[in-house]
Amino acid sequence: MDKFYTTTAIDYVNGAPHIGHAYEKILTDVIFRHYTQRCDNAFFLTGTDEHGIKIQKTAAERGITPKELCDQNAQQFKDAWKALDVNYNHFVRTTDDYHEKVVQKIFKKLVEKGDIYKHSYTGLYCSGCEAFLNEKDLTEDGLCPDHLKKPEVVSEENYFFKLSKYKDAIIKHIKQNPDFIVPTFRANEVLNQLENIEDISVSRAKSNVSWGIDVLDDKEQVIYVWIDALSNYITAIGYDPDGSSEQFNKLWPADVQVIGKDILKFHSIYWLAILMALDLPLPKHILAHGWITIDETKMSKSLGNVISPTTVIENFELPIPDAFRYYMASAAPCGKDGNYSDEDFKEKVNAHLANSMGNLLNRTLSMLVKYFDGDIKQEFKVETELSKQAEQTVKDVMHHFDYYEIQEAAQKIMQLVDSANKYITDSEPWALAKNGEMDKCGQVLTTVLDVMCIVSSLIYPYCPNIAKDMANQLSYDIGTKLQDLKTDNIKVGHLIDKANIHPVFLRLDSELADKSQKK
Ligand code: ME8
Ligand code: MG
Repeated sequence: MDKFYTTTAIDYVNGAPHIGHAYEKILTDVIFRHYTQRCDNAFFLTGTDEHGIKIQKTAAERGITPKELCDQNAQQFKDAWKALDVNYNHFVRTTDDYHEKVVQKIFKKLVEKGDIYKHSYTGLYCSGCEAFLNEKDLTEDGLCPDHLKKPEVVSEENYFFKLSKYKDAIIKHIKQNPDFIVPTFRANEVLNQLENIEDISVSRAKSNVSWGIDVLDDKEQVIYVWIDALSNYITAIGYDPDGSSEQFNKLWPADVQVIGKDILKFHSIYWLAILMALDLPLPKHILAHGWITIDETKMSKSLGNVISPTTVIENFELPIPDAFRYYMASAAPCGKDGNYSDEDFKEKVNAHLANSMGNLLNRTLSMLVKYFDGDIKQEFKVETELSKQAEQTVKDVMHHFDYYEIQEAAQKIMQLVDSANKYITDSEPWALAKNGEMDKCGQVLTTVLDVMCIVSSLIYPYCPNIAKDMANQLSYDIGTKLQDLKTDNIKVGHLIDKANIHPVFLRLDSELADKSQKK
């Protein structure tokens, strides 16, 4: 594997980021970090989607310019990702100069190719969706099913993209590549949508929407929504119809594009058609994740249960975001809906990160210091069933990531931790020491510490700070690529520093949790 390119959806900046946005970015960051452990050229793109009528209206209401509103809100997204250690390489904003210029060129190229044409149109427009809706998609009362608002009747002369031209090629691609859409059960949904696909409007009259990218040779029209938004995935890494950058040639096609299930249609139909029209290769996978609900209810402004990405960290006064990242990334199998609740969060991270993983490391290191003054002897190095399980776990985790089974990969890591805990309980190193069986005692402790090195590598994508802390206490080089991981990680000699032994994750105590409940 010589490169790995992953992207997230770019978020609308008409509101503040919430925990659903955070879920997607954490999930993608976990995938990205895992692949940085497998290849040297991994790249992670995220960003914000800044044009459109909603921004224009909100800005007007607040008496500021659309750009000022975008600047304020885009910063909130950046701040949130920083607090969550979402370690993207580039943050694209659709108002960035390079993006706007290349989108104009893309549009022009498609006009010249005959794939974009002008057409008079009367349609039902929902400003919530920023899209035209079909009559048959509306509720019985004629409302948008997602926004429960009556769409406006809009008559305009717009540019249209010949989506229908690419219909058969897209169907063929999806059928021939059953793993293109992850999870695979969603492919049928997309194939059904493809049956009724029509050409789509890709511009709006400037008299109706002014906050958008100008069509180059037509001052009356702005490029609208999907060509602008979807193109971010290529403009941000240097695509240019007149000659792309070296970086683009190296990174494209994307390995996985992570999005929510509500925008799968745009990514598995519209996006493929645009790429085909541009003669570009198609992304290898589209990962459509599910919804994050709060206490089993949908988040919505009217219910007042929208929570910001950093609420959990602030409420539990977490010094590092690792526990929240771990919880979110393993909240549900990718593609299924997941739920956040304070109780469940506390219970799970206390059990997994503090009790099982953190405690095991702490007591094993402490015993090594107590019985051997932190010295590892050559005689301690033996192969055990546990080390074989650890080797197998590395393979299993890589396999799960190849299928974007991020929750399942985390479960495998915790199973290894459980086995290591069982091994130490069964082997009773404290009894061995008491009976003077010192080599045996040293073997048990060293086996577990070797396995904990592997655990630190595997848990790194989810819990980067905890993982580095574990590796540091173990004098272990966490930079080893996963495919090169061996069970023999602890070096012979004096490596464990007593002064450096400390818990990697403190239990969330009930007092703090109570405080969070009150907020
Ligand atoms: O759709 N749980 O932006 P957006 C999980 N700008 N994911 C959620 C969620 C929730 N409760 N709510 C939203 C857009 N998301 C476009 C995308 S891409 C070229 C353009 C996800 O701010 C949603 O599914 O409405 C999407 O993937 C992302 O957050 C941004 O949503
Ligand atoms: Mg949305």
